[in-house]
Amino acid sequence: MWRASVLTIFPDMFPGPLGTSLAGKALASGAWGLDVVDIRAFATDKHRSVDDTPAGGGPGMVMKPDVLGRAIDATATDERPRLLLSPRGAPLVQERVDQLSRGPGVVLVCGRFEGVDERVIAARGLEEVSIGDYVLSGGEIAAMALIDACVRLLPGVMGAPTSSAEESFADGLLEYPHYTRPQLWEGVAIPEVLTSGDHGKIAAWRRAEAERLTRERRPDLWAAFLRRFRSGSRTG
Ligand SMILES: C[S@@+](CC[C@H](N)C(=O)[O-])C[C@H]1O[C@@H](n2cnc3c(N)ncnc32)[C@H](O)[C@@H]1O
Repeated sequence: MWRASVLTIFPDMFPGPLGTSLAGKALASGAWGLDVVDIRAFATDKHRSVDDTPAGGGPGMVMKPDVLGRAIDATATDERPRLLLSPRGAPLVQERVDQLSRGPGVVLVCGRFEGVDERVIAARGLEEVSIGDYVLSGGEIAAMALIDACVRLLPGVMGAPTSSAEESFADGLLEYPHYTRPQLWEGVAIPEVLTSGDHGKIAAWRRAEAERLTRERRPDLWAAFLRRFRSGSRTG
């Protein structure tokens, strides 16, 4: 079973949104598992301290390597990748999500304060992963985003097996626009081709729209798509 272990100083935040909808149903049915580890339980002083002042001075606090190291050692006893949620990390992309969802699961370390002592990152081989170029107050919401993205790809979790194959990023493109009834809403009709019943034309329209949106909104993705297309590998 795919398993996520989350190390946090706020264990009560979990499962949070992961306990509802698709992920929640899959969790309840045993399609995936969640262990939440309270980092504070590995503190040894009477105040159960998990942080200390930054070496060299400056604002804020830093998570202590000894406490976090013990929490990781007690949790990451198998081959699952160990990820530290971090704004400095490699941006999380669908390709990495696909890889993670095909593996045994993840061990996720949630930072707080100014972050984590650098030595524990190196010593425990933590892979730093960011969910975007902005700063959250802690890694928990980032961990939830990563878990949600993985869990929906697990076998049997999403309704139709083709759901993820056509989504944004699956072919390096953003997804085409969607429409549903009513046919006319506020004077705007559903594009005629979508109600034509001609599956070939619908597929061609969707493809053209996906390419247009990607070109207009994400020049970075569009350039990468063109590079792959020209080198003869659309999915690689
Ligand atoms: C206030 S942030 C620390 C920011 C850090 N001082 C910096 O400037 O890079 C506290 C924690 O939130 C989490 N976090 C914040 N932004 C994140 C992001 N974009 N992606 C993933 N985790 C994030 C990390 O675990 C981080 O250690």
